[in-house]
Amino acid sequence: MDNDKTMTRKGFFENLGALAGGAAALSVFPWLSACTPEKEKEMSGEVARLGIIGTGSRGLFHIANLLMDPNARIVALCDIYEPHLDDASALIPDAKRYSDYHKLLEDKDVQGVIICTPLYLHAQMTIDSIAAGKHTFVEKAMAWSPEQLNAMCSAWKQSDRVLMVGQQRLYDPKYVKAMDMIHNGAIGQVVGIRNYWYRNNDWRREVPSPGLERQINWRLYKDYSRGLMTELACHQLANGGWAMGGIQPESVCGNGSILFWKDGREVFDNVSAIYQYPNGVTMTFQSIISNKHFGMGEQILGSEGTIDLVTGVIYSEAGNYRSGIEKLLKQIETNLLSSSAFAGTSWATEGAANEKGIRYIANVTVNDGASSTGASGDGSAELMHAFCQAVITGKQPEKIVEEAYWSTLLALLGEQATRERTMVEIPGELPW
Ligand SMILES: NC(=O)c1ccc[n+]([C@@H]2O[C@H](COP(=O)([O-])OP(=O)(O)OC[C@H]3O[C@@H](n4cnc5c(N)ncnc54)[C@H](O)[C@@H]3O)[C@@H](O)[C@H]2O)c1
Repeated sequence: MDNDKTMTRKGFFENLGALAGGAAALSVFPWLSACTPEKEKEMSGEVARLGIIGTGSRGLFHIANLLMDPNARIVALCDIYEPHLDDASALIPDAKRYSDYHKLLEDKDVQGVIICTPLYLHAQMTIDSIAAGKHTFVEKAMAWSPEQLNAMCSAWKQSDRVLMVGQQRLYDPKYVKAMDMIHNGAIGQVVGIRNYWYRNNDWRREVPSPGLERQINWRLYKDYSRGLMTELACHQLANGGWAMGGIQPESVCGNGSILFWKDGREVFDNVSAIYQYPNGVTMTFQSIISNKHFGMGEQILGSEGTIDLVTGVIYSEAGNYRSGIEKLLKQIETNLLSSSAFAGTSWATEGAANEKGIRYIANVTVNDGASSTGASGDGSAELMHAFCQAVITGKQPEKIVEEAYWSTLLALLGEQATRERTMVEIPGELPW
């Protein structure tokens, strides 16, 4: 195991450290200032002693990454569902087992706590963990309601503990590089942001007995989850703030329904939300889970180009096709059109660019969005490593709670807009 750890060590912050060298990248991703080779060297030989609360699918995914991390040692595990606790114990037989998370929080050997439980539990567990003096990592979305979100942030603000959140794009080199390029003018003025996430499955898990339905399929019930907005949109909505230089939208309107999976679930199986920025730019999010043809997409549209964040490709607006309007004006100027401007056969409508685009970053792992636990190369390993670093140094990565706050708030207010089919105002200031 130690050999494996040494082999993977080199990769963790290698790309990020280099990318974060750019001033633009650091202004958008300030938490990366901790990802330098010097900082990495400082924690060489040190370990963060960790406890995991919630050893379901995401918990096990983090455990798999942490087992490869030379700065991590998992010393305690907690779950109320024995089969899941057994799965984790099988990977780390020496770790202590708890079924009550309060007991794990009392464990003096635990320095950092990783919370991977259903959404409705995040706020209370995070507040309790901070109160117990633990550095805390909580999965996204941060909270089930804006009130819970504010309570978590205020508990963190009043403490000297680290708080981090499970948004792995924060540490994904594709996103860092793209935002650096956008802020250096590579696509001109940002004029639109498109996010979508399509799947074709019912989002259900097998339940061994009916009494466990809500516990296991918590995502489908409104008291436990906010559905597609908190589970999926939360990740993608961060793209807007990054592309817009930290400016957040001022309102959101939305729609949604239970269209296809009419199986007793309480959350929508399709949602569409449009966020409006003060300067007129809009950001869209759509998710449908009964058609997967288009998979997952995150695109920043600029007046001079387009960046596809998922594939790491940039497309230019110039030279590949002339807009129909541009052609039409030219024809009018040169008297080529006789009577009806719109009848001319040589007038081509605007169409999608057929340009191939340029990959702006090497070795991109394209995530199709199908997995509901996480994908390799998506920034999750780096995120866990950054948490270990923060536990070891006791230093809060800059602006990371602010980032998670906005993503969660946008997801929650977007969910409200889709549920109420209305427009919801987004408060412009952080509550602290
Ligand atoms: N960042 C990502 O890409 C990503 C991916 C998947 C899931 N997640 C997030 O991770 C969290 C967990 O999702 P999941 O798919 O692992 O769910 P899951 O249902 O597989 O796991 C949740 C676990 O929490 C346990 N649990 C429930 N109540 C508990 C309690 N009181 N004390 C201790 N354990 C308790 C459950 O028994 C279960 O094992 C969610 O917030 C989800 O949004 C994030």
